[in-house]
Amino acid sequence: MNLPAIYSLIAEDMQAVDAVIRARLHSDVPLVRQVAEYIIAGGGKRMRPALLLLAAGAVSYRASHHHELAAVVEFIHTATLLHDDVVDESALRRGRETANAAFGNAASVLVGDFLYSRAFQMMVGIGNMRVMQVLADATNIIAEGEVLQLMNCHNADVGVEDYLRVVRYKTAKLFEAAARLGAILGDSSAGVEAGLANYGMHLGTAFQIVDDVLDYSGETDEIGKSLGDDLAEGKPTLPLIHVMRTGQPGQAALVRCALEQGGRESFAEIIEAVKATGALEAAMRVARNEADKARIALDALPHTQYREALIQLSDFAVTRRY
Ligand code: IPE
Ligand code: IPE
Ligand code: MG
Ligand code: MG
Repeated sequence: MNLPAIYSLIAEDMQAVDAVIRARLHSDVPLVRQVAEYIIAGGGKRMRPALLLLAAGAVSYRASHHHELAAVVEFIHTATLLHDDVVDESALRRGRETANAAFGNAASVLVGDFLYSRAFQMMVGIGNMRVMQVLADATNIIAEGEVLQLMNCHNADVGVEDYLRVVRYKTAKLFEAAARLGAILGDSSAGVEAGLANYGMHLGTAFQIVDDVLDYSGETDEIGKSLGDDLAEGKPTLPLIHVMRTGQPGQAALVRCALEQGGRESFAEIIEAVKATGALEAAMRVARNEADKARIALDALPHTQYREALIQLSDFAVTRRY
């Protein structure tokens, strides 16, 4: 299933969200507009707003705040990307130069702050205390996740549980929030809200594990990012943890040394070790297991086309090439 097909149910809503995004990017400060429009114009999969809209549809939400709130979630995501590319020193995003490469680190960090605070202005405008609570908590956890990851960098002793905690915090939390917000908008029961939140959390976990696999095995043209960014930053992601756990002593030592030093020099050798030890398949098994749990969490929901689309989205998360 491709994304346009999965989004077909919400195609009009997604256009409305796009219009909100464009309108709310406005600033009287030219550099704010320039940088914000630059990263937004790169596109992106828009999975988090789609998730919010599909969740709202799955609980038969029929009022009017969902477009604004979906744009809020995409703004928060975009702010994290601006900051993340500075921290990761990445050069390519969405198939073009990153904002930090094009405008510099300072502009990226500051416009990331603008998008965060614009998102908070918009959510206050919606005026629902639970919505604000969910998003305030989510952004706080994302920040903690990025800091936890920073602490884990160049540490070859990071285990699977430490890794998964970073993934849940930095990525899955926003997916969880998006799905939960759909349920909150629709005034759904506590059981349905928990089901959607769990779905989002497992979906986001699967999504990030696959992102970490693609960092070793994707095609630059498809993912629109440079391969090897994780190794360059000394990030102990699941594929490398697998090599250190199950590889020959030489393979484990190679990965340990590369993680501790960072850089891209040993990327080709590392890829060989990753492939030889079946590390990508092993990571994909963990991702598929998470996607299965996401699907099972949807059992709490009534059978609708929206629920079907959410099931397809969990499949996309683990079959995607971009
Ligand atoms: C990138 O997210 C950051 C991760 C959590 C891996 P996406 O892959 O959803 O980014 P875009 O919005 O589609 O570019
Ligand atoms: C991104 O993680 C998570 C957030 C933006 C919070 P990554 O660093 O793995 O994402 P990419 O690969 O740069 O998109
Ligand atoms: Mg990154
Ligand atoms: Mg990545």
